[in-house]
Amino acid sequence: MNPAVQAPFPATRFRRARQSPGIRALAQENTLSVGDLIWPVFVREGDGVAREEVPSMPGVHRLTVDAVAEAAREAADLGIPAICLFPYTPMDKRTSDCAEAWNPENLSNRATRAIKRAVPEMAVMTDVALDPYNIDGHDGFVVDGEIINDETVEALVRQTLSQAEAGADMIGPSDMMDGRIGAMRNALEAAGHRNVMILSYAAKYASAFYGPFRDAVGATGALKGDKKTYQMNPGNSDEALRLVARDLSEGADMVMVKPGMPYLDICRRVKDSFGVPTFAYQVSGEYAMIRAAALNGWIDGERAMAESLLGFKRAGCDGILTYFAPAMARALA
Ligand code: PBG
Repeated sequence: MNPAVQAPFPATRFRRARQSPGIRALAQENTLSVGDLIWPVFVREGDGVAREEVPSMPGVHRLTVDAVAEAAREAADLGIPAICLFPYTPMDKRTSDCAEAWNPENLSNRATRAIKRAVPEMAVMTDVALDPYNIDGHDGFVVDGEIINDETVEALVRQTLSQAEAGADMIGPSDMMDGRIGAMRNALEAAGHRNVMILSYAAKYASAFYGPFRDAVGATGALKGDKKTYQMNPGNSDEALRLVARDLSEGADMVMVKPGMPYLDICRRVKDSFGVPTFAYQVSGEYAMIRAAALNGWIDGERAMAESLLGFKRAGCDGILTYFAPAMARALA
């Protein structure tokens, strides 16, 4: 046989497109940029600029309101477009009626105003759920051991309006009650908050990966039982699409999948099915896992951070909520 017409072997040399940094960059399909990042921040009481580290989240701090404003300035300078606020509510303000959740002077609302005053261009996302204010640690009202849906939705609407009033740009309901998006959207419209967006935690799973977050907001000891009657069963996938469809039909502007890394298949299905702005939350346990391994010298923390976040882009996400936001922004700069 004539060797010139013999099929070349290997038939395809994929390694050609990997031969140098420049060629690899040219052939790269997905990239992460700082504009993809939302930074979740914990707020606590206290005067002046002060911060304390969350023990189960090395490198993450609870910040006073003044410190949050300062951190927002630094984040904006790094190019981070949005901050998401989570309050560490003092224990004496946690009650079974959760009234602190819609107090105009609560930590979240004060932090929102402080950020908008100091850094008007920073988008502020706030969390709608009762758990930081609830004596039971649940996202909804608890009556006779049951998390009651419709009364909780009424409270979530009050919380939403107080957050919009304080200046929040995006409202993030993380409670997983049914019917909350429509109720919130109607109330926002009626109150004239037409441009306040809703980023729905549409597909939120009952996950072990929230552990460090519950430490960070002081809900660990408080939580009675688990959240499985309202958060999703990790075995389900079709249900996530039904939830996203429902939330979009009720007026959600953007949707989120949470946690992130164990649910990248859900991100991909959501993006492919709906083509809407799709976010993932790389939650506290995912952050802690990477940081703990890095601190032990078991993995290269910087590379694992970047690789984990790029994975979200590959899975179809438009943006990521991540505690790595400042570190990743610095690495990208
Ligand atoms: C609760 C809420 C949780 C998180 C965000 N909002 C925890 C939970 O559902 O128990 C978790 C975020 C994280 O783990 O980083 N409404």
